[in-house]
Amino acid sequence: MRKTLNIAHRGLSGIYPENTMLAFKKALEIGCDGIEIDVQLTKDGYAVICHDEELDRTTTGTGLIKDYTLEELMKLDAGIKFGREFKGLKIPTLEEFLKYVSDKNTIINLEIKNSIIDYENIEKITYDLVKKYNLEKKVIISTFNHYSVRRCIRLDRTIKTGALYWDCIFEPYNYVQMLGANALHPQYNSVTREIVEKAHDNNLEVNVYTVNNKEDMKKMIDLGVDAIITNYPNVLKDLL
Ligand code: G3P
Ligand code: MG
Repeated sequence: MRKTLNIAHRGLSGIYPENTMLAFKKALEIGCDGIEIDVQLTKDGYAVICHDEELDRTTTGTGLIKDYTLEELMKLDAGIKFGREFKGLKIPTLEEFLKYVSDKNTIINLEIKNSIIDYENIEKITYDLVKKYNLEKKVIISTFNHYSVRRCIRLDRTIKTGALYWDCIFEPYNYVQMLGANALHPQYNSVTREIVEKAHDNNLEVNVYTVNNKEDMKKMIDLGVDAIITNYPNVLKDLL
């Protein structure tokens, strides 16, 4: 059986403010195999890391990221809402993150957030930065927008891609193969042994999200998934 990889969801986000450089550093410190991050675009076309399209939940800002320039976003605090002790953390840019991980031994799962707002050119902006830091071999680009998966494949046939979904798609291993992606990225509840086996028969990986409790982690390891995306890579690390 293959080794299940341990991917830190938005960094070590169970313990530190999600999608911040601190959460990414801490995830690497505990020895995860990879980091998952969410990519959005600013008004002036910079790729930044934030899960929500809106700033309100995780930062001191309000409204949509797409309505602010990078300079404006840099004035916001992305730590304090998680806890006063995290005051002063900034929204990271994708470039800052890629530069930081470029000399680290880690898988990078870039989730392009473009199923709610279909940001123009986000695939190319993301891909150009991946290329700038020579990270093509370490990256897997995923998105819930499967038209965007196709756009990524068109940019570079060799870049790894994953199709995110949360429902019970019929024979997802056939669908994802037809799409041309390399991996299924399902919400973990929809995964069965048959799906994992048939995906593997089709040369596809199965990388599940977001598995935060031990029992579910054990179940997923037993099903033979390729990677588990979790807010608690520290807990998963002890299990593996
Ligand atoms: O990429 C896995 C997972 O992050 C997808 O859902 O909403 O947490 O970005 P979400
Ligand atoms: Mg995500």
